[in-house]
Amino acid sequence: MKITIIGTGFVGLTSAVVYASFGHEICGIDIDQRKIDLLNQGVVTFYEPKLTEMVQDELERGKLSFTTDYKEGVSGAKIVMVCVGTPSREDGSVDTAYIEASLREMAKYITDGTIVVIKSTVPPGTLDLADQILKSETKAKYSLASLPEFLKEGTAVDDTLYPDRTVIGADDDETMEVLAELHKPLKAPIVKISPRSAQLAKYAANNYLASRIVFVNEIANVCEKAGANIDEVVEAIGYEKRIGKHYWYPGLGYGGSCFPKDVKGLANIADGLGLEGNLFAKLDELNSERPVQIFERIKKEIEGGWQGKKVAMLGLSFKPGTDDQRVAPALIVAPYLLAEGASIISYDPMVKRIADEKIAESLRYNQVETIEEAVADADVIIALIEWSQIVGFNFKATKVKEKQQVFIDARNQFDKAELTKAGYQYFGIGK
Ligand code: UDX
Repeated sequence: MKITIIGTGFVGLTSAVVYASFGHEICGIDIDQRKIDLLNQGVVTFYEPKLTEMVQDELERGKLSFTTDYKEGVSGAKIVMVCVGTPSREDGSVDTAYIEASLREMAKYITDGTIVVIKSTVPPGTLDLADQILKSETKAKYSLASLPEFLKEGTAVDDTLYPDRTVIGADDDETMEVLAELHKPLKAPIVKISPRSAQLAKYAANNYLASRIVFVNEIANVCEKAGANIDEVVEAIGYEKRIGKHYWYPGLGYGGSCFPKDVKGLANIADGLGLEGNLFAKLDELNSERPVQIFERIKKEIEGGWQGKKVAMLGLSFKPGTDDQRVAPALIVAPYLLAEGASIISYDPMVKRIADEKIAESLRYNQVETIEEAVADADVIIALIEWSQIVGFNFKATKVKEKQQVFIDARNQFDKAELTKAGYQYFGIGK
């Protein structure tokens, strides 16, 4: 079966290789000619474990091709999947402009029986909009479905190959059956529901997970004030089966390409339905304020505040295992520290170029290749991201004796007693 995937980001490209591995003919479409040229040579422009190998394998098997041409890409496809981005607008609402554009582009080339699937995260009701757009451009008898994606960056291929479930939202049985059959090789439970429920399920899952992170961070704040330790509290409550120990780690708040936009998105969707003052708006507010609040608090506890401090910032991606810097803590903390008069040297095992031009251009912001170089002359060391290279580094050995060095353990990965004994002024989260 020919399947066309529109959008070759994390979701589109991973889906493309996985469906290709089932033996289908996959054509990926993207508007970025440079990206398409590289993909056709087996080069993936972002870091995601296992993805490059799978792209190369499927290109070699002849199961995968890429184009910018909608006519070539969509003609003859049984299924056309839209996997383009749905960023937040300034007011937090979901921008579906890329979805709308791709529907307009594909409309001329779909035929009777084509299934148009929206895999991007979209507000409930988007299939009605899709239907209107397609109807205005074609007479073909297509059908529509929603197929939300739950993969995580850093484990995208495995999450797609071994999902906890496949959620299919479709109104007609035939479409539902074709999509269920397509996902059978995954051997995961298939949840067959309405398109609106499928769309909302994606927002509900991401908002629930984000709420756990906001919750544990709020408890960490109370721990700090009350003289308790969040790691001990998490251990104690984690034995409760209804709570669990997983996905429950405190830090500077959630980042990445999904949670920030999907929490804002659901807040905006609920608002629009008359549910103002909802939980989701509050989650977004608490999470957005968190990084600067933490650094403001530490400022009061270190001698001379941030002014003139040489800071070693370790970890520039939004989490380990990816080079994605969307809503990365570094991009929030760096401008704050620079404005406070600090200078920054940074290190990341994977990110080799700071995405934010303004920060990258700042003369006081240098990137180095090793942790040793970053910390050699630092007044303050910030372990921002739990990359194994950072967590496994022996900071006791590099402690500068002549200096009162500050160590900020933003992900609670280090032993406070050990680092304090080594001579650091240690700050963790919630302890
Ligand atoms: C997330 C969802 O997990 C995934 O299902 C969805 O499809 C897309 O969004 P992703 O953004 O790749 O995936 O990363 P994830 O590993 O879930 O982490 C999100 C953010 O939460 C990161 O900033 C991470 O550091 C933070 N986090 C995660 C915590 O602060 N504490 C935790 O316990 C877990």
